[in-house]
Amino acid sequence: MGTLFRDISRFIRIPVNRAGAIKRINEFYSKQRSIDELVDTAMDMGSKGHYRINSMQVRSEILSLVKRVRDIKPKTILEIGTCNGGTLFLWSNLASKKVITCDLIIHKYRKELYNKFPSPDSSCVVTSLEGDSHDPQFRKKVEDELNGNQVDFLFIDGDHGEEGVEADYNNYKSLVRPGGLIAFHDIVKNQPVAGNQVYYFWQRLKQVEQVEEFIDDHNQCGYGIGLVKVAG
Ligand SMILES: C[S@@+](CC[C@H](N)C(=O)[O-])C[C@H]1O[C@@H](n2cnc3c(N)ncnc32)[C@H](O)[C@@H]1O
Repeated sequence: MGTLFRDISRFIRIPVNRAGAIKRINEFYSKQRSIDELVDTAMDMGSKGHYRINSMQVRSEILSLVKRVRDIKPKTILEIGTCNGGTLFLWSNLASKKVITCDLIIHKYRKELYNKFPSPDSSCVVTSLEGDSHDPQFRKKVEDELNGNQVDFLFIDGDHGEEGVEADYNNYKSLVRPGGLIAFHDIVKNQPVAGNQVYYFWQRLKQVEQVEEFIDDHNQCGYGIGLVKVAG
């Protein structure tokens, strides 16, 4: 009886949540939106269940990053770490041609929804790739998807271990065009979990690259965005 009830409830909830998420996307695109409205929507779209879209960012930090990325008029963006699609919604609004987003698992319902992220007037296409960013076969998949082109912006927000984030930087930085941007999330030292070690890699990287930091409060726990300007 319990299982039957759960199945019926799921059967009803999934299409209702899907319709709710699509309605919110359509509402967003029903009028001209400011960059602040875009960030507010990406922070939490208010949708539910498998269709919940939200972001693990500090509003002021991600707003500063979005402005920098918008200024370079990106055609193509690559993201490692999709999670609930909040930052993907931002990139889908900024890139004119393509966004590739990667995560260990991306549910098929989410992939379908992500395809609807770019504005109806945009030619941008979203590609959701499932797998481990550290796997050379996965790296090859990303490269194939780019078809010989480079990206304008790379957002690294996947594995937060020191070695993991360093591997993502070393493996994917050559896919960013000269003059492009690479951003890292969670660069502050004080973190809610010991596994978040981006700070240690960031401290080394900022000695050798041209960087900018967006940190809302230097005493905060977690968050903080580091931006690298690729030479050229
Ligand atoms: C902090 S969340 C990303 C948040 C998202 N960028 C946002 O703010 O809207 C990190 C995501 O990275 C994914 N991840 C962790 N290690 C990964 C790896 N090696 N390859 C691909 N994705 C990974 C996790 O599954 C998780 O969904």
